[in-house]
Amino acid sequence: MTVHIGAKDGDIAETVLMPGDPYRARWAAETFLDDAQLVNEVRGMLGFTGTWKGNRVTIQGSGMGMPSLSIYANELISTYGAQTLIRIGSCGGMQPHVGIRDVIIAMTASTITSPSSGIFKEFNFAPSADYALLEAAVKAAKGKGSTTHVGGIYSSDVFYAERPDLDEQMVRHGILGVEMEAAELYTLAARHNRRALAVLTVSDHLQTGEALPSEDRERSFGDMVEIALEAAFA
Ligand code: ADE
Repeated sequence: MTVHIGAKDGDIAETVLMPGDPYRARWAAETFLDDAQLVNEVRGMLGFTGTWKGNRVTIQGSGMGMPSLSIYANELISTYGAQTLIRIGSCGGMQPHVGIRDVIIAMTASTITSPSSGIFKEFNFAPSADYALLEAAVKAAKGKGSTTHVGGIYSSDVFYAERPDLDEQMVRHGILGVEMEAAELYTLAARHNRRALAVLTVSDHLQTGEALPSEDRERSFGDMVEIALEAAFA
């Protein structure tokens, strides 16, 4: 047990999918895993362990934002020995060619600040995905219906951003989408020599203001979960 995860030793698989939303963890576990068992409900941050095609997988909510993700990822890595951590979640599209429901596989995750900023001081670390996972995810995405983009994303500290000038620079530099967790996940994976990736579904668009209706969400998120699972066990 850790401060935030009530799972017993051995309850957490080496491969962990991390949606921000604990209810999405439950939906993904019930939809994609066999024999899914609830292994954590501390603070309602649900975690489930089951199997996918015979491979053990945990799906553990991370909460929203890098400070929350940092708590769960640190405990999963240091206490439970998680080796492969894949964020599955939503993001806001930032390029005109990125549409609602598209999938983004995040090669890099730029950020202004993260829970790790304090240790880097003046050094601008470039958080990046594990290459083998990235390659496997790109391959897995080719067999799916969703349009997929691969490239850089932005991990923001705020959902309600007040810096249109910053968004403009992101767009100018080819950032595909914005979310709030991947940069810290990639940084922690680098620090602890683990594998990390973020596979995201575009749920809203910063330029068009379009947003995915809630009734469409589950169907659209299915490709993302399958891509993550296929990449993890490629
Ligand atoms: N997650 C989904 N949409 C987002 C947005 N527009 N900004 C930050 N995180 C998001």
